[in-house]
Amino acid sequence: MAVSACYRMWLFTGCSFSVLTLCLCSLSDVTPDVFGGSKNGVVSAFGDFNADKLTDIFVLAASGKVLHLLQAEQELTKKTASFSIKTLIDGKNANATYITNVAPGDFDGDAQMDLLVTRKQEKQAETNATVSVQIYWGNSVTDTLDQYPFSFAEAFRDQPSVIDVNGDMIPDLLGETAEGVRSFFIFSPNRSYSVEKVVNGTFTAALDPLRIPQSSAFFDFNGDLVADLCMVSEKDQKLQFEIWTNQNGKLTWSRTIDSPPELEKFGRPSYYDLNDNHEINIILPGCSGHACQDSSVFVWGRGSWSKLDIQFRSGAESWQMIGGSSPMDWLNMPFTLRFGDYNLDGFPDAVAVLKAKSNETYAAFLLLNTPCSSCGNFSRTFELNVIDSATETSQRPMLVAFYDFMENGILDVLLTVYSDDAPELQALEQDFTADAYFLKVMVVSGLCVSNCPHSHQPYGVNQVGPVVRFRTTTSTGSSEIGVICDADLVFINCVAKWPGSVHDERVLQLFK
Ligand SMILES: *[C@@H]1O[C@H](CO)[C@@H](O)[C@H](O)[C@H]1NC(C)=O
Ligand SMILES: *[C@@H]1O[C@H](CO)[C@@H](O)[C@H](O)[C@H]1NC(C)=O
Ligand SMILES: *[C@@H]1O[C@H](CO)[C@@H](O)[C@H](O)[C@H]1NC(C)=O
Ligand SMILES: *[C@@H]1O[C@H](CO)[C@@H](O)[C@H](O)[C@H]1NC(C)=O
Ligand SMILES: *[C@@H]1O[C@H](CO)[C@@H](O)[C@H](O)[C@H]1NC(C)=O
Ligand SMILES: *[C@@H]1O[C@H](CO)[C@@H](O)[C@H](O)[C@H]1NC(C)=O
Repeated sequence: MAVSACYRMWLFTGCSFSVLTLCLCSLSDVTPDVFGGSKNGVVSAFGDFNADKLTDIFVLAASGKVLHLLQAEQELTKKTASFSIKTLIDGKNANATYITNVAPGDFDGDAQMDLLVTRKQEKQAETNATVSVQIYWGNSVTDTLDQYPFSFAEAFRDQPSVIDVNGDMIPDLLGETAEGVRSFFIFSPNRSYSVEKVVNGTFTAALDPLRIPQSSAFFDFNGDLVADLCMVSEKDQKLQFEIWTNQNGKLTWSRTIDSPPELEKFGRPSYYDLNDNHEINIILPGCSGHACQDSSVFVWGRGSWSKLDIQFRSGAESWQMIGGSSPMDWLNMPFTLRFGDYNLDGFPDAVAVLKAKSNETYAAFLLLNTPCSSCGNFSRTFELNVIDSATETSQRPMLVAFYDFMENGILDVLLTVYSDDAPELQALEQDFTADAYFLKVMVVSGLCVSNCPHSHQPYGVNQVGPVVRFRTTTSTGSSEIGVICDADLVFINCVAKWPGSVHDERVLQLFK
């Protein structure tokens, strides 16, 4: 399935000096240069929409009625990135629903990015109203989306996850219908799909319901370089990580990992190699206590869960991960750690928005991945650094992600803040200047059907699931191996000074 020969890879390398500078570089606000006047909205996804190898940003605006594309216009020779704004989906066809999430992918295999859109009825973000799923086909000649979408006949319990079940380079979906049937929705090039119920061998009992918000992911669990599927389900209000390994091209249930008993509420799990041992870890943030006041992050690796020793303090204030709801009634925002190698030391760092324990203050934090000698089974932890503390209470950070604005391999920070009753974007540039090389890996389908127009490189659209392992040689001649996989969505983008580091420019799942 997922891995086959038709990937192309771009490796951009600069000069390689192995200077280990563990700096916490400063960030400067470059919002006016980067976004100009087009900074309203919530970031909902990243992807290269117009096939120019620059990552564009999908932004939801007008309470989820309108979807804009911020199209990256940067040339590698220019100092600053800039974006031009384009409306992809206009509210006039919204039919009294609002968009809750988008996920890019090439669902008909024509090498043009399409957009999967999930919608709910107005004002029901917090309830269990069903989700309708649509695909807006991309038009590679005009770089626009078809005005009227393809709609799924089924209503879904939650947004589906995008995976390539049958390895044909056309992404498929894993989801649960409103009736609770867990199924794969498999796409063919003729823009139709077939539904295949997920079955567990000859076991006939119903499968447990999938976790809402959807948290399943595609990653290489057993190190055979083939993507396996981790389906996250729920039982007795606890999470279960069901590992379905790929056995001769068929996803087969192999084991279920229960969440750590200490956790009572759960954020969204992530899947990264946190300690650089070439094995993907499951990273599960969560909390316990009646007000969710005791935050912790657990990591699954080598067959057991370890609790990371994180001090959720900064200055006099204590912080917690989960609590408070979205300031916007049309958008649900589960707690998520987003990863990228901020200081280029080969270990993925994270960003997250935390809430003060004592009041309703929110702040964006950088969680630096640092060694920990007293940490028992897992020798890494995270150290908190404030990125942006809301000095004005009217500016509440809501979402934070890594993004490489300058396409120079150095991660910058993209914030969405809630300001004057509306979300807006902020670009923070990192002023890292040490010599470093970076490896940017973009895994694409390589598909090009009949009409790749002249202005486009026929290289397809970002794929989900593939695992990439690579070996580099440092300036001292030692050889190192890295492994990355794009667990749950559509973009692999890797920055390495020492191999193994991962740059997370993936879709920010609003509902994940
Ligand atoms: C809105 O409804 C019309 C008519 O029922 C349908 O053709 C169109 O596809 C719908 N638009 C969306 C965005 O669902
Ligand atoms: C969700 O659905 C169940 C039954 O389908 C219902 O009992 C429950 O009240 C609903 N929850 C909300 C928040 O609407
Ligand atoms: C689309 O393709 C699939 C698989 O190739 C086939 O089973 C299906 O009948 C086709 N559907 C239409 C409407 O042509
Ligand atoms: C799959 O079936 C086995 C029994 O054959 C059962 O023990 C296991 O829990 C099932 N897995 C899931 C995910 O339901
Ligand atoms: C370390 O791992 C072992 C087995 O892998 C487990 O029994 C033990 O409880 C773990 N210790 C901690 C502190 O998590
Ligand atoms: C929240 O508490 C912190 C310290 O405990 C304080 O600095 C901050 O001003 C408080 N914020 C509000 C909005 O009261």
